[in-house]
Amino acid sequence: MDTAARPLTSARPATPLSGVFRVPGDKSISHRALMFGALAIGETRITGLLTGEDVLRTAAAMRALGAEVTREPDGIWRVAGRGIGGLMEPAEVLDMGNSGTAARLLCGILASHDLFAVMTGDASLRRRPMRRVIDPLTATGARFITREGGRLPLAIEGARDALPLDYRVPVPSAQVKSAVLLAGLNARGITRVEEPEATRDHSENMLRHFGAAVRVETIGAGRIIELQGQPELLAADVVVPGDPSSAAFPLVAALLVPGSTLKIQGVGLNPLRTGLFTTLAEMGAAVVTLNQRVAGGEPVGDLLVTAGPLRAVDVPAERAPSMIDEYPVLAVAAACATGTTRLFGLKELRVKESDRLTALAALLTVNGAKVEIAGDDMTIHGTGTPPSGGGLVASHMDHRIAMPALVLGMVTREPVSVDDGSFIDTSFPGFVELMNAAGAAIRNALP
Ligand code: S3P
Repeated sequence: MDTAARPLTSARPATPLSGVFRVPGDKSISHRALMFGALAIGETRITGLLTGEDVLRTAAAMRALGAEVTREPDGIWRVAGRGIGGLMEPAEVLDMGNSGTAARLLCGILASHDLFAVMTGDASLRRRPMRRVIDPLTATGARFITREGGRLPLAIEGARDALPLDYRVPVPSAQVKSAVLLAGLNARGITRVEEPEATRDHSENMLRHFGAAVRVETIGAGRIIELQGQPELLAADVVVPGDPSSAAFPLVAALLVPGSTLKIQGVGLNPLRTGLFTTLAEMGAAVVTLNQRVAGGEPVGDLLVTAGPLRAVDVPAERAPSMIDEYPVLAVAAACATGTTRLFGLKELRVKESDRLTALAALLTVNGAKVEIAGDDMTIHGTGTPPSGGGLVASHMDHRIAMPALVLGMVTREPVSVDDGSFIDTSFPGFVELMNAAGAAIRNALP
């Protein structure tokens, strides 16, 4: 994304946060809805699609591959699919912007399509590791050529007659699992993926929703997923729930700003995504789930949040897959809590949109919090009073560094600034407006 930098400053609001809101659609589900829609026969209608930059990149890529993707005036997206194996060779380089999910899942799709494609991304994505998908996908018969270190841009020559994979994912990653499953859609026979720790299962859910045969077996903390290759995927309507990873920001803000009460409606509550809610409950947070229901095959509910004191917590490494994107905002909550919080097993944070572990420690330190990193673990020393604030946070092209910094500024004595909030639009377009409507004081400002 080559937009101009957007410096932002967040100050303590004059009043408590309040109101009833919805957050934008789930990013993971939105990418998948467009991809599965493009691989299905018929017209898929998607309600609640996230229109953040990341997902718009996926929409553009699916168009470049021959699917018809349109947004109707009523906000519903329609995808006229081409069927498995039916994608066309793209005439242009596929630019996945800031989105690791879009790039990695698309590698899976392209690996089993007999076509040539070139993929790139922005400076952040071009730094991120792609070998984690390229290594397994090469065994389909596809050929990848990448920059040094397995980085984008890359060229891919998809397999003419793809072999099904049998792969044990070495790091907990829903992106890698999904890339292997997507490649398996156009391979003859059974594709088998083993994950030592269960990660978000939106691909598995959506495969079933579109008519594929998927078998899932739970083994301890992990899972084995088997997909029967070359199914006929049939277009299916998708209702995208609100993104729990986006809901996390107003939710933590409302917990921290004294006197606040906020209701966030229609939030996805897939149990493989709700580690943050479990952790906040252990910290003493008052979050009540109302109106639980199933929408579009995923559990959904409304969250009612009331401000109150938080206490420190130990978060075990096993919980990381279910809250991997929520550590930055959890760390902000921990910096305002009473006592020492220890977060274990954060290795994967180093390969997100930024080295999020380092960026997060800097975010907190520059605002007066006491933080240590030892190996892959982080310790945050809370005093029960928010840190002083007043820092300028380097966002490193990472939406999930910019947003928690602005949440922190809502409770610190001095305002908190970020050098560039433009990347917030990748996952949470309208974040500043929503927070300000709830009572926050975030403004465009040169730091
Ligand atoms: C995602 C999986 C996670 C997560 C990312 C979205 C997905 O990444 O951090 O925001 O949609 O599959 P990893 O697979 O790298 O853990």
